[in-house]
Amino acid sequence: MGLEDGNSENARSWARFLATCLVGGVVVAVGVGFGVSLLGSQERHGPQLPLGFPWRRKKNRPVRVYMDGCFDMMHYGHCNALRQARALGDQLVVGVVSDAEIIVNKGPPVTPLDERMIMVNAVKWVDEVIPDAPYAITEEFMKKLFDEYNIDYIIHGDDPCVLPDGTDAYALAKKAGRYKQIKRTEGVSSTDIVGRMLLCVRERSVSENQHHSSLQRQFSHGHSQKFEDGGSGSGTRVSHFLPTSRRIVQFSNGKGPQSDARIVYIDGAFDLFHAGHVEILRIARELGDFLLVGIHTDQTVSAHRGAHRPIMNLHERSLSVLACRHVDEVIIGAPWEISKDVITTFNISLVVHGTVAENNNFQKEQGNPYEVPISMGIFKVLDSPLDITTSTIIRRIVSNHEAYQIRNEKKAASEKKYYEGKSYVTGD
Ligand SMILES: *[C@@H]1O[C@H](CO)[C@@H](O)[C@H](O)[C@H]1NC(C)=O
Repeated sequence: MGLEDGNSENARSWARFLATCLVGGVVVAVGVGFGVSLLGSQERHGPQLPLGFPWRRKKNRPVRVYMDGCFDMMHYGHCNALRQARALGDQLVVGVVSDAEIIVNKGPPVTPLDERMIMVNAVKWVDEVIPDAPYAITEEFMKKLFDEYNIDYIIHGDDPCVLPDGTDAYALAKKAGRYKQIKRTEGVSSTDIVGRMLLCVRERSVSENQHHSSLQRQFSHGHSQKFEDGGSGSGTRVSHFLPTSRRIVQFSNGKGPQSDARIVYIDGAFDLFHAGHVEILRIARELGDFLLVGIHTDQTVSAHRGAHRPIMNLHERSLSVLACRHVDEVIIGAPWEISKDVITTFNISLVVHGTVAENNNFQKEQGNPYEVPISMGIFKVLDSPLDITTSTIIRRIVSNHEAYQIRNEKKAASEKKYYEGKSYVTGD
């Protein structure tokens, strides 16, 4: 998992660092232990390294980077930004904006802070989370980041972040040479996702749609018209997401199970990946050494939950699940029924399913998808820690539609500006 990998990577770098220093005959006083325990006990500016030392870290401690955000309706775009930020340092500290600050600045969040904290903490590239971060970075908070949290760089995407008074929110950090930029993830925004949800509600219930239709237009036309219907062919999708093989590789752990690993399998749609998903995955992972997650195809999800599901397509859902630190591997397009062959192919020891799910009538239905694992005595129902489903998330949006409408009008204008002024930015 990300955190552990990061730490062992740090440990290896330290070992290399020490070895090189010793070879060079330089005596360096370093505290014992690696990773987080070191922080704070070390002086800011470490010993000067020998000239030409091929190591990007100049100080005798890990480079700590900071990124903040609301992380409301968190999706793989947020996860990708966190991945890019983490790559600019050794430890990533994430500031999550409080509910009160979000309400003041953009209207009520869909996801309360406790759930947003669960989501951000679960991202495998995140090392620490600060709750209640300010919406716009203040001079005082920046000082706190540098002095108390030992942050080296503040990270932000390449979209401009302007304060109400028209100044650049990161001007101070830039001036101090403590700012780094990442490329914005193309293809998805919360605005798009809300648009898809509203379309889903509208089309499911035409009689109720009157008050949703203008809102639905708002959200789904967040960007210029020509981006609509990004490839699904159904006319209900507004995604710009162009899946590449490299993105999947970037999100993957790249490791299979060890030879004697106990492999746990869980399957589902994992649509609009939320805190309930994170928590069931955490518990499932604790039952073994390797968690394999089967993600149902769009067709399978539609067949069982209706034509307007899933909201997020198979690739998007796969990336969200892959970004979760409790997950070791995913099957992109898993079968509905778990056959003996699947169990053998992946050497699955245990198949689990949560008590909170959108469809829990499977045991009564004909063709129970878990029939084989049940008959083998390797099926277990897990108590879901949180009572949240994809429908919960959709309901939250729809019931707050007026507030989101206002919020979106502002957002749509800035999004339009971004897409109009957009140019190619390097990086991944
Ligand atoms: C299959 O899983 C079991 C644990 O359930 C493990 O003991 C065994 O070594 C695994 N087999 C292989 C070939 O990895």
